Amino acid sequence: MVDTLTFPVQQTAQSRLSEVDFANLGFGKYYSDHMFVVQYADKQWQNPRIVPYGDLSLSPATSALHYGQALFEGLKAYKNEAGEVLVFRPEANARRLNASAERLAMPALPEEMFMAGLQQLLALDKDWIPAAPGHSLYIRPFMFATDAYTGVRPSETYLFIIFTCPVGVYYNKPVRVKVETHFTRAPKGGMGYSKAAGNYASALYPTALAQKDGYDQLLWTDGVSHEYFEESGTMNVMFVINGKLVTPATSDSILKGVTRDSVLKLAQQMGIAVEERPVSVREVIEAAKNGTLTEAFGVGTAATIAPIAVIGHEGVDYTLPPMETRTVAPRIHQALDDIKTGKAADSFGWVVKM
Ligand code: COI
Repeated sequence: MVDTLTFPVQQTAQSRLSEVDFANLGFGKYYSDHMFVVQYADKQWQNPRIVPYGDLSLSPATSALHYGQALFEGLKAYKNEAGEVLVFRPEANARRLNASAERLAMPALPEEMFMAGLQQLLALDKDWIPAAPGHSLYIRPFMFATDAYTGVRPSETYLFIIFTCPVGVYYNKPVRVKVETHFTRAPKGGMGYSKAAGNYASALYPTALAQKDGYDQLLWTDGVSHEYFEESGTMNVMFVINGKLVTPATSDSILKGVTRDSVLKLAQQMGIAVEERPVSVREVIEAAKNGTLTEAFGVGTAATIAPIAVIGHEGVDYTLPPMETRTVAPRIHQALDDIKTGKAADSFGWVVKM
């Protein structure tokens, strides 16, 4: 349990829970009954409250819409067998939210406000947490600039909101990814390490081009030489080469993924050798050719682990070994799911009961 501030609640007059088709959740289709809202003005966060989930009324001049001062987080809640609410590493998200806020010249949100708002929101909407294996309640905290001002400067007012959605699996099959060597997700000195909304916007066009060629996502390379891998789609990326788990070291252009960190720690605990270092395209393609690349996968909150089936590079598709031969990612995925849902001991102290 977290120590908690309590915030005023305006409860919904009519729950929408009965409208949810829990057998076909998809991802991001349904929104739970309530949201947590806090405003920033006069240099302080104020008026924290829980209200029914609903539309916002904004000025057309709202600066986030023009200059992109907007960021988000993503985390998940589960129910254990006793029906208690378990949230996976929420403090890590509260901290990363503030690292992103600093990069975007936005105010830090007190971590205790993030935690207490989340706790109260989940207490109210806990019936929205799906029970089926692989399903969860996706939690979306986000912050954006609200000044109705068209000059370019950091906004003086902001909104911070948390809403939640019951979700199923993000990808329902292994993905085909293309090595991107023209477009760049994030330059050195840019904001790639943050969860700035703009990072996701800039990926849409190059991804759409790859999708026209039959790929699902991109394997992003560095913006200087395009010789080193950075991320995959909206996730961190990992490879199993010669039995070692290899992943690009984080930098200012790579997100410090909470799932990334969790996967690496679990792998080490399982005795799997882990290497965080620059990972070249050439090394991975060579390993794909000579059979030492046995697995590749994306890691992120939404999908947890998304296996990669095919890597496309310079017009050639390299098909990776079939899913049934893979041992590293499935083992870690299972271990992670068991910790998140309270089925296995949480030796890292990651799970917060709310
Ligand atoms: C994640 O998986 O961590 C993400 O950020 C995906 C989200 C953009 C849906």
